[in-house]
Formats: sequence, C-alpha cells, structure tokens
Amino acid sequence: MVNENLATQVSRILSKHRLKINDRTLKRFLTALESINDVLTPELIEILVLDNLTIGESYFFRDRKVYNFLRKILPSKSDWTVLSIGCSRGEEVYSFSMVAKEVGANFEITGLDVSPQRIEEAKVGCYKFWSVRFLDENELESFFNKVGDKFCVKSDYRTNVTFTAGNFLSTSFDKKFDIIFARRVLLYVENEGLAIKKMYDLLQDEGLLVLGLGEYFPQVLEIFEPIAECPCVYRKIQRKEIATTAYKNVSEIRKTADFTAKPRAENANVKDESKKLKAQKEVITKTLERELNLEPALRVVEHCLENKKLIEAENFLRKLVHNFPTHYLVWKYLGILEMEKGNVRIAKEYLKKAAFLNHLDDEIWQLLRLTKGNG
Ligand SMILES: C[S@@+](CC[C@H](N)C(=O)[O-])C[C@H]1O[C@@H](n2cnc3c(N)ncnc32)[C@H](O)[C@@H]1O
Repeated sequence: MVNENLATQVSRILSKHRLKINDRTLKRFLTALESINDVLTPELIEILVLDNLTIGESYFFRDRKVYNFLRKILPSKSDWTVLSIGCSRGEEVYSFSMVAKEVGANFEITGLDVSPQRIEEAKVGCYKFWSVRFLDENELESFFNKVGDKFCVKSDYRTNVTFTAGNFLSTSFDKKFDIIFARRVLLYVENEGLAIKKMYDLLQDEGLLVLGLGEYFPQVLEIFEPIAECPCVYRKIQRKEIATTAYKNVSEIRKTADFTAKPRAENANVKDESKKLKAQKEVITKTLERELNLEPALRVVEHCLENKKLIEAENFLRKLVHNFPTHYLVWKYLGILEMEKGNVRIAKEYLKKAAFLNHLDDEIWQLLRLTKGNG
C-alpha cells in the first residue's frame, strides 16, 4: 500500500512544477520513497522528485546530425542567442559552445533545467566517460581536460555559457532567442501545447526550434515548419503567414475540407496545406528511419544487456557490426555480450578491437583485465 501522505506531497510537487509522470514510474518511486520515510523533509522530497522523475539522461553531441547542421548555418549570422530547455547536466549547452567556437560564431547560450542539482553539476562541467562515450579521441582531447577519471570541459568552451535552475513554464526571459533547444523535455511537461506556444513567442522571427531526433509533436507543425535538411529542427513561421495560409493540424484541415459550403478557392488552399503537411511528415519519417540508427540502437543494446536479454542484444549487435564496423562501442558491447555468455576468449578478441578503436575508455581496459589468462 502506498503511503497516502507521501503520494499527496509528491503529486503537489508535480503539479507545482507542471510535470507529468506515468503511473508505473510514480508507483515505483513512491515505494522507494517509503523506505526512507523517516528521513524525509518536504525540501528533500522536492529534490528527489525533480532528480528522479525527470530523467536527466544526456550526452555530448547527442543527435550528431543537429550539430552538423549547426556547423553549416552558424557562420551565416554574426551573433546567436540560444536557450537550452531541459539542459540536464549541461552536455547539450557545451556541445553547442564547442561547435560555435569551431566555426567562429559569436553566441550566448543559457541552459535551464528544473533540477537544481543537475544545474550545479552543469556549472562544474566535469563528466564521467559515459557522457562522452560517442566522441572520438580527437574530440576528447580538444574539448576536455582529463582530471582523474573525469572529463572536464576546457575553459575555452565555458565562456558565454550560463546555467539557471527553473521550470521553463514559470521562468520569464528578458530577451528573445535565435535558437531554442527543447530536446526530450516536452515529454515531461504537463501542457506541451502551452510550452510550444511559449517557445514560439520567445523565438525571433525565423528562429529555430530543435527537438530530439524521433520526437514528434503535432502542435509544433501548426506554427513551425521542419527544415528538410535536418527535420528535428523547425523554423518559426511568421504570424502573418499563419493567418493567411491557415497552417492547420491534420484534424482541423479535415474538418474544414469536409465543409462543402466553403468557397472552392479556400478548399483548394486547405487541400494544398494538407498535402504540404503530409509531405513534411513523410520527410520527417523517412529521415527518422535512416537516422534512428547507431545511437538509439546502442541504447536498446545497453538496455538489453542490463536486463540480461542476451538474444535481443545479439540480434541488434549483429546488425550494428555490419553497418558500423569501426565503432568501438559495437565491439565493446559484443565483448560484454560474449562475457555474459561465458565465451571469454571471444570476448577478449572483441574487447581488444574496441580498445584499438578507442583507448580512452577505461571500462574496456577493466573488462580486458577480467579476461586475463584466456587466449
Ligand atoms: C532527458 S533530459 C534531456 C536532456 C537534453 N536536452 C538531451 O536531449 O540530451 C530532460 C531534462 O528536462 C528537464 N525538465 C523536465 N521538465 C522541465 C521543465 N518544465 N523545465 C525545465 N526543465 C525541465 C529534466 O530535469 C531533465 O534534466
């Protein structure tokens, strides 16, 4: 039985921060909370809610395609003002700074997260290998200083970067932005329509909204248009344009199109919009099919290995090794898989390949040590 008092306190905190959580996660969290009931204070409960129920998973250069796109467009303007909503421990903010510095763009970037704990960590800017696992050796050496087992962002990439703790919905801003990152954050927001509208208002004309690869919110398409080259990036549509072209969502378009008394020209306009919307959706879906490749698949592999679903992990890894034969993580996970299966000699071969492809991953060396004496 879940403690009613705790459940009420947690749901009050969730509604104060206008966050939404699925029932199963909430139940599991409440059960865990009950076991430390005697040490809980209201402040501690709030910290635990924000830290545990708004998953802060992030890593450097997540969705690489976005950063490649930014590399191309940043030189087109002299100054960029950027907001990263749900910036977690700062990985996204520093990744932006690294790319902007590389192409010589002037910028100011603000990272905002509802979890004060994560914002403190972002300010420190030192990360475990896990956060930089998709970077190659050159990137690791250029962007970080190794301090013990941590990778600390070099001072060059910390200038023009600020972090603030707060809820996006209740934070007021005294300026407009050229780019807003809102990747994997709308899922936690109770009223995403409101959040999308607020982002629209906070963006400059033609400003860019960056969502996570694989995220799709129909409301976004009502006031933003996806950029064909990089479909998780959306451009703000001018208000005038919205009013005249009646940029509508699919159900609204259907409703209007069925209304036979409408003048023909207007109906044709709506059909055009419907076609345009369909075409845009196709672009997004196609790109997602192509792009949902290495990173998401590796995350599935990680999940399978953690949960000892070895057959599923193997199926994924066989495909990945075919498509990405030079990515060290594929060989590392193949090594872990073979170790789980008890094939230590094969595991050792795979891990040696992984270490050859990336000698900075300490975990690979630790795993190799475990295979000592086998072959
Ligand atoms: C999964 S992380 C995403 C991190 C990063 N944007 C990325 O894509 O790698 C989601 C983050 O959003 C934050 N968050 C959730 N709701 C928020 C809100 N209303 N305002 C600000 N941050 C929020 C969480 O605390 C968490 O750190």
